[in-house]
Amino acid sequence: MSTSESATIDQGPTWRALQSHAEDMRDVHLRELFVEQSGRFACFRRQAAGLMLDLSKQRWRPKTLDLLLNLAREAEVPRAIEGLLAGARVNRSEDRPALHTALRLPADASLVVEGEDLVPGVHRTLSRMATMVEKFHAGQWRGATGHAIRDVVNLGVGGSDLGPLMVTHALADYRPPGVHEINVHFASTMDGSQLADYLSRLNPETTLFVLSSKSFTTIDTLSNARTARDWLLSRLENAERELAVDVDRDLVMRQHFIGVSASPEKMSEWGIAEANQLEFWEWVGGRYSLWGAIGLPIALVVGMAGFRELLAGAHAMDRHFREAPLEDNLPVLLALAGIWNVNFLDIRAHSILPYDGRLEYFASYLEQLEMESNGKSVTHDGQVTSYSTCPVLWGQLGPNAQHAFYQLLHQGTQAVECDFIAPLRRYDDIPDEATRAHLIDQHRLTLANCFAQSRVLMLGDDAIDEPGERPSHKRYRGNQPSTTLLLDRLTPRTLGALIALYEHKVFVQATIWDINPFDQWGVELGKQIAGETERILASHQGLDAMDDSSRGLIESLWRAEDT
Ligand code: F6P
Repeated sequence: MSTSESATIDQGPTWRALQSHAEDMRDVHLRELFVEQSGRFACFRRQAAGLMLDLSKQRWRPKTLDLLLNLAREAEVPRAIEGLLAGARVNRSEDRPALHTALRLPADASLVVEGEDLVPGVHRTLSRMATMVEKFHAGQWRGATGHAIRDVVNLGVGGSDLGPLMVTHALADYRPPGVHEINVHFASTMDGSQLADYLSRLNPETTLFVLSSKSFTTIDTLSNARTARDWLLSRLENAERELAVDVDRDLVMRQHFIGVSASPEKMSEWGIAEANQLEFWEWVGGRYSLWGAIGLPIALVVGMAGFRELLAGAHAMDRHFREAPLEDNLPVLLALAGIWNVNFLDIRAHSILPYDGRLEYFASYLEQLEMESNGKSVTHDGQVTSYSTCPVLWGQLGPNAQHAFYQLLHQGTQAVECDFIAPLRRYDDIPDEATRAHLIDQHRLTLANCFAQSRVLMLGDDAIDEPGERPSHKRYRGNQPSTTLLLDRLTPRTLGALIALYEHKVFVQATIWDINPFDQWGVELGKQIAGETERILASHQGLDAMDDSSRGLIESLWRAEDT
């Protein structure tokens, strides 16, 4: 059966078989699953593209996985994967393909979509990025007063912020040696608080802003950009007087702003010089865009060679996704574990727990990737889904979260699926012997915590052999499912594969849920009403049409503004 017009996936035979299997599994504790199946780790472990996935601590049996794989076949996942990678118009509500995978194709590949080979255009943009990066790294990108640019501030939000922010932080160790160092910063908040902080600290003569916005209409980014432009113009005019140099507006715009957008017209209208415009395409979604020009801050940190390694890692995962059979396919298996938890075990919270400080922003990156993609309740045919879709997903660095919300994971009333993520090796290249030894110890300690936590979440009280009864407030019920993802090392290549793994996981889940992971209509109404509210705040007109609460809040603001 395919998920055609009328029949939804939950009406099919496999869904029903899974429901009845879930009934049988309801009272089975994870500890029993390990007792009944020796070699469980080997049975549920898979490897690809430098990543190892341990799914043995999921609350499932081999039979469960067989049924879930049938579900994936019933939802025509293999055909959907092919369609995604070949450039089918998978984003149906916006009638366009979702071709982030094209951004990581090698230069000698070809991908003809609707009569056009996309690869040359992708590599043209990469070459333009390379030229810019070289210029920065050679200290030759100079500000209007002639000083080399030292600080680059990315102004963007959502997909135009979270990906580059996460990756630059994760790969800061991979700065190429011997280049003119560029400090990369990120300002996303609409209220200007991050930007104000940078403006108070940075030197306008050596600061450049990258305006990153696919649409180039996002008010958060445009209001930060306007503040930045006025700051530069007024501060550099002062410099002109003090230094007796010629600083005109065009020069400032040319030397201090780069734009990245799918709308060259809007970039030009705003004042971005044509030579400083990096384009990306309507067929790349914002939250899937770090692989192209939106990744410029990443390339500024790791160099173009590092950036290409990131792309190569993602491409390795794309190939695995396309070629591996479903039962060995990492993104498919990760997706199926999530489907089993959400739709059959009723576990609708999912926590992302990296055990590596460099992955500090990984959870917030995934929050957008997963929840903006799959936080949907209408199928492709416009039917309201009769089943749950994306769980609430959040996270934090695992060791820090141990001192914050793990209490809930261990003893709260919520069942939560957890993803533990860690590299096996770290710090062995630190030159100073004593520091290296200490840091390697710290890494081992971190892994001990990572492995311990997934074990305690699984076994509860049985994780420890302690005689005697414990009072109930000291008891752990365990039975919380988790996945552990191990990387040999955190490198540009393995990080690329890790991100692509989650991108494809999201796609597989969306395919099974029959929803569109590439649009985000749910954010539009809020933007529209914010615009109307802003007009009321400024004009003091139209308050009568508001509800009582909103009226009360607005009047509080007006009173505050009057005093
Ligand atoms: O409002 C949501 C959203 O459109 C995200 O999907 C996107 O990543 C973000 O805003 C930023 O959009 P843009 O890159 O067009 O400024």
